Amino acid sequence: MIVDDILRTPGAVRDAERWTAHNYHPLPVVISSAEGAWLTDVDGKRYLDCLAGYSALNFGHRHPQLIAAAHAQLDRLTLTSRAFIHDQFADFCRELAELCGKDLVLPMNTGAEAVETGIKVARKWGYQVKGVPAGQANIVVAEGNFHGRTTTIVSFSTDEDARADFGPYTPGFTVVPYGDLDALTAAIDENTVAVLLEPIQGEQGVVVPPEGYLPGVRQVCTERNVLFIADEIQSGLGRTGATFACDHEGVVPDMYLLGKALGGGIVPVSAVAANADVLGVLKPGQHGSTFGGNPLACAVAVEVVRLLATGEFQRRSAELGERLRAGLEGLVGKGLVGVRVRGLWAGLDIDPTLMSGREACERLAARGVLAKDTHGSTIRLAPPLVITEEEIDLAVAALAEVLAG
Ligand SMILES: Cc1ncc(COP(=O)(O)O)c(C=O)c1O
Repeated sequence: MIVDDILRTPGAVRDAERWTAHNYHPLPVVISSAEGAWLTDVDGKRYLDCLAGYSALNFGHRHPQLIAAAHAQLDRLTLTSRAFIHDQFADFCRELAELCGKDLVLPMNTGAEAVETGIKVARKWGYQVKGVPAGQANIVVAEGNFHGRTTTIVSFSTDEDARADFGPYTPGFTVVPYGDLDALTAAIDENTVAVLLEPIQGEQGVVVPPEGYLPGVRQVCTERNVLFIADEIQSGLGRTGATFACDHEGVVPDMYLLGKALGGGIVPVSAVAANADVLGVLKPGQHGSTFGGNPLACAVAVEVVRLLATGEFQRRSAELGERLRAGLEGLVGKGLVGVRVRGLWAGLDIDPTLMSGREACERLAARGVLAKDTHGSTIRLAPPLVITEEEIDLAVAALAEVLAG
């Protein structure tokens, strides 16, 4: 029999809480290894990963092709800075640009940096190409957005936890209701340089805008000479059953912001992809990052792009997503009050009179399934795209048990 005082988890949780800032509220599990869709904790308990590092692990833990690329690169060259060119750089940029159907790529590290890059590029484009008067550029964003945690990005967050007490805030953003094309159109003026949107709002609970919204945004941006920036950091790279969430409505933005899964769950890699008339506004010294586009990152990320170029992961996500949808929709009225599914990405609204999202995730963890609440009684499922049908059934069955009490 295993008794509590010989388990390693409680002490490891205590240590983590003692020595770190409490900017997260993690579930009390301490992971020590992983493979594919499965995690193992310090006490040997196994969990099915239904979060996948907020979609940073779309290809599962330790995908052999990605691990091999990382190992090979570690043995040759890890960092040069952008002061020099390295031999992994061009292939990564070219293959990612081709996957995006764009001329150029600008590599960074974290998602927030990609967003910051997009904002800077859009402003410079506005002044230099569109002719906006100096200091007057504005960008239209949506309520309920999540684009990262920098001071500029939280300036236009509508989540008080993310924003409060971090001012003074960066000006130049107009917030409109998500999914409301009329409001967005009305917010655009002659100084608007960009519309920045998540094609599906992940942190908000996998909120899918009404059909026609994204094509409408595309059209109004084209008509008003405004850049459409799609933050596909969480929604992109296979998660929704297509390479990009914008693909579902045949929409091509002017700029893709990418991150998370681009690093294969191994290294932080983000990127902006756009055409030369947009990204070409940046000149040496105007933007950069010591680690952005480093050899290790490029060696892993180019393999990510190659995995995506096969289409296999997008197909899996679309097909298995239908199984997930069927399973979850069967729970509506049995503890769930709402379900939104796109590919292997689901937002679930639990009946708030039953339990909070946090409680549901704790109970799921006790049954060997790891997921994360987004807010209130909403949780998000985003398993690695390598998950099997049986594993999806297992996750749905665990959820059914939790909801049944
Ligand atoms: C849509 C979106 N944009 C940007 C970010 C920020 O990415 P990072 O945490 O890597 O800075 C996230 C992270 O969750 C995200 O979901």
